[in-house]
Amino acid sequence: MSQAKKKVRVGMIGYKFMGKAHSHAYRDLPFYFDLDVEPVMQAVVGRNEEGVKAAADKMGWASYETDWRKLIERDDIDVIDIGSPNNTHAEIAIAAAEAGKHIICEKPLSLNVEEAVRMRDAANKAGIVHMICHNYRFVPAIQYAKKLISEGRLGQIYHVRTRYLQDWIMDPQFPLVWRLRKDVCGSGTHGDLMAHSIDLARFLVGEFVEVSGMMETFIKKRPLGEMSGGLNAEISDTEYGEVDVDDAVAFMARFDNGAMGVFEASRFAKGNRNGNNFEINGSKGSIRWDMQDMNNLQLYLEEDEAGSQGFRTISCTEQEHPYAGAYWPAGHIIGYEHTFINILHAFMQGIAEGRSPAPNFDDGVRNQIVLEAVEQSANSRQWVKIPIL
Ligand SMILES: NC(=O)c1ccc[n+]([C@@H]2O[C@H](COP(=O)([O-])OP(=O)(O)OC[C@H]3O[C@@H](n4cnc5c(N)ncnc54)[C@H](O)[C@@H]3O)[C@@H](O)[C@H]2O)c1
Repeated sequence: MSQAKKKVRVGMIGYKFMGKAHSHAYRDLPFYFDLDVEPVMQAVVGRNEEGVKAAADKMGWASYETDWRKLIERDDIDVIDIGSPNNTHAEIAIAAAEAGKHIICEKPLSLNVEEAVRMRDAANKAGIVHMICHNYRFVPAIQYAKKLISEGRLGQIYHVRTRYLQDWIMDPQFPLVWRLRKDVCGSGTHGDLMAHSIDLARFLVGEFVEVSGMMETFIKKRPLGEMSGGLNAEISDTEYGEVDVDDAVAFMARFDNGAMGVFEASRFAKGNRNGNNFEINGSKGSIRWDMQDMNNLQLYLEEDEAGSQGFRTISCTEQEHPYAGAYWPAGHIIGYEHTFINILHAFMQGIAEGRSPAPNFDDGVRNQIVLEAVEQSANSRQWVKIPIL
């Protein structure tokens, strides 16, 4: 007789863009993966009762709360999933850890390094399982790139260059939403987009040693407004407010293994909707990847026969590619939503086994340290060394 799996009862905070991505992933997770535990969509939190009730019904949550503190007090909740703006992460995560709940938190981990360290220390002290939602690590093509690099197929890594480009705030009438207010988000394009590139570089290349950066805010005043789902927003006021975060950021870096990095992120790159891409060059080969062609990895290997060398396109949809085998036959591609199913799979298995899979709060702290060092460098116009905290 098969034994009933342990139920893991999830309480999720925030139900818009990431709330939708996470809800969908919890629903699909047991469909594609044979998990050691059974995730249960127990409760969702939003501040507006009408909105959160409708979200609970639509997305499949069994109940709802209008205050995250109520969720943490509930003894029928095992996991807190944080998908609310960045200024809420630290308070929620520390309270959740102290209540013994496992945590998955959206990125960036917090507003600053000091908060991130407090979150990590609280999570480790409580002995709970924790992860940060850097979902791009879980694209099969990127997992396969990691395998190639770890096996030494690219040789010594010399270069990483990343670009993360969007264009959704270029209209000067796009309102001053939470993503453009330092007190709510910590930094702009930097913490939103560059945090992902920093995570991919740490995952694939190594630890940062020093950085030299520049940041720019092109539109300095905007009408007040609110996010309305996805990356859409509505103007809510005739008043204008000051934009106090970056619209674009670029930096150079050195890594502990001697590699050089060049990083660029912008929300002012016309025509780029979610242009997240990178190239890595090693002594024996190179890889290229682009989110808008996310199933494919471009690979160049020096070991290929002379005369037929060149970048080849690998469709990372075969059984050999991590996570791909859970979905469809080779060549039947997957999309953005599957990155969340994959990361939640890692999280649920971590809970089953009592360990915090990477990327966890330690990765969140290291990421935040790099983010903050780039800001310090941009302000001081000096190279800044990366401390280990
Ligand atoms: N992993 C990714 O690729 C990715 C993509 C987008 C956003 N994010 C991150 O996810 C988080 C949320 O971003 P989003 O795009 O979903 O934002 P959003 O504006 O679409 O949704 C935020 C949600 O949080 C709710 N909320 C705000 N304050 C709250 C509070 N005090 N208590 C309870 N709920 C509250 C809002 O009502 C809304 O439902 C941010 O940290 C962001 O950086 C990650």
